[in-house]
Amino acid sequence: MSDAEQQADRARAQDDGAPLEDAAAPIRHEAPYDAQSRPDDHEAPRRQRGKTVHGELANAGHRVLAPDDAEVEAYLETALNAPAPERPAVDRPGGAVPRGEGSSGEPDTVVVLDFGSQYAQLIARRVRELHVYSELLPFDTPWGEIAKRRPCAIILSGGPSSVYEADAPRPDPAVWSAGIPVLGICYGLHLMARELGGDVVSVAKREYGPATITFDGDSPLFAGLGPEQPVWMSHGDSIVAPPPGFGATARTTSTRFAAMADPVRGLYGIQFHPEVGHTPRGRDVLRNFVMGIAGARPTWTPANFIESTIAEIRSRVDAQAHESGGDGLVICALSGGVDSAVAARLVHRAVGDRLTCIYVDHGLMRKKESELLRVTFEQNLGMRLVMVDARTRFLARLAGVTDPESKRRIIGDEFIRVFEEEAAKLGRIDFLTQGTLYPDVIESTTPETKAAQKIKTHHNVGGLPDDLRFTLIEPLRYLFKDEVRLVGLELGLPEAMVFRQPFPGPGLAIRIIGEVTAERLDTLREADWIVIDEIKAAGLYRSLWQSFAILTPVRSVGVMGDGRTYANVVAIRAVTSEDGMTADWAKLPYDVLGTISSRIVNEVPGVNRVVYDISSKPPATIEWE
Ligand code: XMP
Repeated sequence: MSDAEQQADRARAQDDGAPLEDAAAPIRHEAPYDAQSRPDDHEAPRRQRGKTVHGELANAGHRVLAPDDAEVEAYLETALNAPAPERPAVDRPGGAVPRGEGSSGEPDTVVVLDFGSQYAQLIARRVRELHVYSELLPFDTPWGEIAKRRPCAIILSGGPSSVYEADAPRPDPAVWSAGIPVLGICYGLHLMARELGGDVVSVAKREYGPATITFDGDSPLFAGLGPEQPVWMSHGDSIVAPPPGFGATARTTSTRFAAMADPVRGLYGIQFHPEVGHTPRGRDVLRNFVMGIAGARPTWTPANFIESTIAEIRSRVDAQAHESGGDGLVICALSGGVDSAVAARLVHRAVGDRLTCIYVDHGLMRKKESELLRVTFEQNLGMRLVMVDARTRFLARLAGVTDPESKRRIIGDEFIRVFEEEAAKLGRIDFLTQGTLYPDVIESTTPETKAAQKIKTHHNVGGLPDDLRFTLIEPLRYLFKDEVRLVGLELGLPEAMVFRQPFPGPGLAIRIIGEVTAERLDTLREADWIVIDEIKAAGLYRSLWQSFAILTPVRSVGVMGDGRTYANVVAIRAVTSEDGMTADWAKLPYDVLGTISSRIVNEVPGVNRVVYDISSKPPATIEWE
């Protein structure tokens, strides 16, 4: 484990710490992505991104879905009139580095074919936790495309279909005969059985939930697991006869063929789900398959990723500069969020001062946030940072505006203007760095996901001249968010930046209900600082999706000392969520709420009352505006 990973583990352990045990009303811990996710609907089709659970356009169709950097990056993309990214057909880490240049080269790869289980991404993440690179591809990816990735192993995900339906999704049949180890999970197992000559039937009673599995024989897939294990099942089909060459390797009380294998051909199938937290030794099953059976090497580490990515960026920028006779200048918008910070740091390590970062201080950030950014990037990392103090112009444009959507529009417009002005001062820029993440790449066919597209429809901006074309650099396009954080730590970025909760592009403006003024911003910033301070002190920061203060337009009567007050009401919002699309209000311990309340009333002038928002999303949104 690298230093960065150990640091992350320690920090996580610390944040998940004890104060909750004796709390009056303990918070519900949302694990980063799966432990709490009820696998009840596990084989239900994935929820459409961009839609609420009710199937309506999320955010009422008017908000940018990305909670963090993407909005600000999209402003820059819009201002610079950047084209949609052109990604090479085979896009894999280290793939563009000429052999010998990046010593870490291409990592060993496990391809996961996605048959529609909403946890297909989770399988890829679990494999990556073993430090083996894993890529998620659509179930019908032609063999030629799969082969280009030179996979060491292939995993077939679960899915909501039944293999005997006429239109059941099937992989390219070459998958079975390529001589590469294959693991079929649930629907993947049924496919393997059916396609290779076995029998699968629909059983009257669905097996669904926890089960105990008993292993038969000594399959290498179950090495080290003992004779029995608790596992999670969710299936309505069962194998009644395995295909020729296969033998049963595990059973439960309801199925004789809970796992089967043909070790000669390297084909393995399991009925249970090793990827979910409810199968405690699932990780070992995946390790046995990926590293034991398929022999993949654990080379997918933050350090290797950094090394090969830097080499790749450098060679791309140098090659294009050489070809075009330009200087290979790169620009990056910093938003204060982790993705743009990590992307910028990687590019800086690759091209040094040819990178210029632009940070627009719109005056709507939280306390000390802009300062942290400046100190980190400019002073500590020695990066070229254009910090535009645009506070006055944003405030001037926001004066008298109370409508939430008008605020958003004004902030977006002003951002784009500032970027255009700044970019024009920098001369010819060849590259634009974006913090696009792997889930955005996987799902980029869904129109709602690309923040820039949304913004472009909202802002009729001229942009720079059409003949200026930028090439996009997206160094994080292979990474999940938690991997970005590990890379950030490894690159030496401060924890406050790496583990920052999501923060919306329009900043505090959409947390001040009514008009945004300098005075009200100060009031909210102080109250918000106390919320974060106490949440961190209680070790809760990382278990919450977001925690913050809202300045309401309500004034209420109070008493302080001998005097009557008539002052502002501040609301506290703390939510748990996996992706911001749905959220639960956090059951914060009363003593934490109590301390936050008394500190705000005592320390923030002009506030005499604090209330706690106990609404979930839906029907409420996370932000108040
Ligand atoms: P809501 O309030 O819609 O928020 O429940 C869901 C997530 O999106 C963030 N959010 C925004 N992010 N620009 C952004 O960049 C916005 O206008 C915006 N509105 C909401 C919010 O913080 C939460 O994480």
